[in-house]
Amino acid sequence: MRLPALARAFVALAVALAAACSSGTPRLYDSDALPPGPVGASIAYGHDIIVDTQHLMKGYVRAKMSCQACHLDAGTKARGGSFVGVYGRFPQWNKRAQRVITLQDRLAECFLYSMNGRPPAYSSKAMIALVAYVAWLSRGVPVGAPVKKSDRFIEPLPNRKPDIVHGAVVYAQTCVRCHQIDGAGIKGAFPPLWGATSFNGGAGMAHIDRMTGFVRYNMPQNAPGSLTLDDAYDVSAFVLGHKRPHFNRRALVLQTPRSAGFF
Ligand code: HEC
Ligand code: HEC
Repeated sequence: MRLPALARAFVALAVALAAACSSGTPRLYDSDALPPGPVGASIAYGHDIIVDTQHLMKGYVRAKMSCQACHLDAGTKARGGSFVGVYGRFPQWNKRAQRVITLQDRLAECFLYSMNGRPPAYSSKAMIALVAYVAWLSRGVPVGAPVKKSDRFIEPLPNRKPDIVHGAVVYAQTCVRCHQIDGAGIKGAFPPLWGATSFNGGAGMAHIDRMTGFVRYNMPQNAPGSLTLDDAYDVSAFVLGHKRPHFNRRALVLQTPRSAGFF
């Protein structure tokens, strides 16, 4: 039986629509799509640490936030601290350490500075899970692929000194409702921007170029992208003008000794 032309066109459209819906870009992290067994469990645990660092890494972090406060959507968001492709960029030269560092070293850095805490041992369940999670998000990205602009939130800054007074106005108008007048945020909802519970002075976010880029593309959280580069620059300078914990460069990173039987 031949369908009338109009009906045929309608069926074709419905089929095309169904295909478009089911073939949408796959989510970068889907707990149902993980490999079965211990490897999948490790990836899932790494994901959970990023999302709920306060509970899962209690005793290792002093800043009152999760990794996800800066690595948005568990590190899956472009220009929001994405982990996609990061696995294949290590080992790499590190200017601060003046040596070649591994991914574990880089993860440890965010514990030391951004979370103002101490890293778990490299052979611990937590560290292995974080590496497994970053590796999982990086699958398909070739080792050594160049860093794209959208991988980073560093922003070329305006060619002028920041205007802190204007930054204070932007803060009062757009940030204060969530991050609060004292910059301490609200526990469990809005992370602290400065003060004793925030990231310390050694953190990447304590650099004006990183914070400006992060704020420009991701803040205010209820209207990301609504600030101009100038607004983001000035408000970041205002935020960074406040006191935060000092990073103790002489702190010792201790690893728990384990017997060779472990291998
Ligand atoms: C206060 C914000 C903040 C928090 C909290 C934070 N990070 Fe970061 N992280 C950064 C910044 C900034 C960078 C540097 C990004 C850049 O250079 O573009 C970074 C970089 C990284 C990198 C390297 C990414 C790359 O592109 O090479 C890893 C891995 C990482 N963080 C893991 C973590 C983990 C794990 C936690 C939680 C234990 C955490 N971070 C918490 C801000 C943060
Ligand atoms: C609607 C609430 C809201 C507003 C308004 C808002 N933020 Fe945020 N901000 C958040 C949340 C929630 C996070 C944690 C990341 C996430 O879940 O998106 C965050 C994270 C951050 C971070 C990284 C984590 C940290 O604590 O350092 C910075 C920096 C930041 N915001 C700056 C700003 C600035 C500057 C403004 C004003 C221009 C602003 N935010 C406005 C809710 C808000």
